[in-house]
Amino acid sequence: MSIVLNGKEIAEDILKNIKSETEKFKSAPKLVIILVGDNEASQIYVRNKCLAANKAGIEAKLLTFNANTAPEVLSAQIEQLNADQNVHGIIIQLPLPPAFDADALLSQVNPLKDVDGFHPLNAGLLQNNNPAAFAPATARAVMTLLEKTGINLSGKNALVIGRSRIVGKPVAQMLLNKNCTVTIAHSKTLGLPYLLQNADIVVAACGQPKMIKGNMIKKGAVVIDVGINRDSEGKLCGDVDFETAKDVASFITPVPKGVGPMTIALLLQNTLDAYLKQKHA
Ligand code: GUN
Repeated sequence: MSIVLNGKEIAEDILKNIKSETEKFKSAPKLVIILVGDNEASQIYVRNKCLAANKAGIEAKLLTFNANTAPEVLSAQIEQLNADQNVHGIIIQLPLPPAFDADALLSQVNPLKDVDGFHPLNAGLLQNNNPAAFAPATARAVMTLLEKTGINLSGKNALVIGRSRIVGKPVAQMLLNKNCTVTIAHSKTLGLPYLLQNADIVVAACGQPKMIKGNMIKKGAVVIDVGINRDSEGKLCGDVDFETAKDVASFITPVPKGVGPMTIALLLQNTLDAYLKQKHA
């Protein structure tokens, strides 16, 4: 039987700590969220980010754009936010509608305001294990949950399933920075069961509902489930089959109330960090 890591509770503590910092400031840190199009999941995520920001004493402003907005309009908006001294964090909610060049827009965000950590400069700093990097919030959420287990990461076999810009790549980099032996698996990987049998740490971020069953996991592994899917009955579930995996893992995160609320808390922690960097620049 494993210990269930309660991401919701840990996230609440992080929000409280941020609030106790922001209360001391004359003006609140400000986060601007750019949402383009009408992706339903994005609308829910963005709403939750704004609600949590308010709880933590961070001003969140949502800017919404139609899916057929000209890319130059978005570019001009980003430039204006980059130059606005009262804006400390800028995020562009992903995915963008197909007509937009996400790489070009993400590269345009001032790296000091890039609280998503998607700018190539921040990705490069993370690769160099430079503490000045903004690390993507979901990756930071995974690392914070691993820290809460108290286990020593050095030398552990870590398997990251998924290679996205948002989770897989940065989390693999952060695990490597902690001296894990890291394997990245993805949709073309052959022999995933073998890799799972040898993994002390599993970070599942492949977007396949309940794909990883208890009998595929090494006994005592730490399992962090980043997936947010619907099962055949329409209920929220992760990439891991929680019911069977919880009897094999030493620590496991649930879905919901696992990585999801932690991601929002770490985004706001990044926003507080950005505010402090800009104030002391
Ligand atoms: N879409 C899904 N997760 C994220 C995230 O962490 N940041 C942004 N900007 N978009 C996302």
